[in-house]
Amino acid sequence: MTIIATMLSGVVACSKADTPTNSTQNSDTPQVAEKVDSVGSEDADTVTSASTDGTTSASIVPENLVDTYKPKGFTDGDKKKVLFVVADPRKYSVNYDLANTAMEYFEENGVEVELRDLYDMEFDPVVSREEFYYAKDGTGQASEEIKKEQEFVSQADHIIFVYPNWHDTPTAIVKGYMERVFAKQFAYRDTDSGLEGLLKDKSIYTIMNAGFLGGGRGYIGDGVGIDDEAWDEYMKAFKVMDDDTAGFWGLENKGRFVNDRTPSNNSENYKEEITELRQDLKNELKEVFLK
Ligand SMILES: Cc1cc2nc3c(=O)[nH]c(=O)nc-3n(C[C@H](O)[C@H](O)[C@H](O)COP(=O)(O)O)c2cc1C
Repeated sequence: MTIIATMLSGVVACSKADTPTNSTQNSDTPQVAEKVDSVGSEDADTVTSASTDGTTSASIVPENLVDTYKPKGFTDGDKKKVLFVVADPRKYSVNYDLANTAMEYFEENGVEVELRDLYDMEFDPVVSREEFYYAKDGTGQASEEIKKEQEFVSQADHIIFVYPNWHDTPTAIVKGYMERVFAKQFAYRDTDSGLEGLLKDKSIYTIMNAGFLGGGRGYIGDGVGIDDEAWDEYMKAFKVMDDDTAGFWGLENKGRFVNDRTPSNNSENYKEEITELRQDLKNELKEVFLK
């Protein structure tokens, strides 16, 4: 069994009853139910599906610590531009918290940020029969919907995908964004010497929350001593995929920030822990993008 498959089976096996060290799991169910309800008053539809029986292994940032951030968007100016493609159904998850933290940090540092929230947009991730040959060969015209996204991609210096780890791949909605927006003739084309990526001088980066072993925070080499070999293998597997995607599109893969050290929903030190997580992400972004 591959390491990915092993980790995935671990997630499934420990999704409710067991308590991994990084746990978002909740031994204190009523308290979590209360938090779910309080968030539910703002966002009832999402919460109903988040927790029908009052318990969840998903992360829930306490209401008073949710730090929503709305970026200002791209202008025609010449500041660096980062396109955030965020694929998370819940605005109060730790994963979304990482998106908010990163967007705010970039704007504080003079970088323009445009947010494409795929759930808010109700983005349809399915390549339709009608659209197939456009995606595959670039024949015909992009729809207005896809053209708009491609304009954001064209304007961006960096594209950051933010999604939780669901079965070790991009969540379906962001995978569909990749399939539909990064079409042939837009992102790459055939030449006499093979495929040529067309999105030169740009980069991709991924921010991903995960919920398995509590094995690390960051990227390759950032295990925390629980099973560093597995952590690195896991990160290297992502790097293989990301490098390949970047190669296709002709841009640079700047790597990932993977958080597998999510504060427990009921932690007494939640504020300190989420502050530390936010700071770790900012330190990483500074290193990768702002040096
Ligand atoms: C459908 C689904 C599949 C998941 N698969 C994985 C997985 O393969 N590996 C993993 O580490 N976590 C997996 N998780 C756990 C989530 O990554 C974890 O709950 C999430 O990152 C917690 O952060 P969030 O609540 O901020 O989204 C899965 C969660 C869902 C809902």
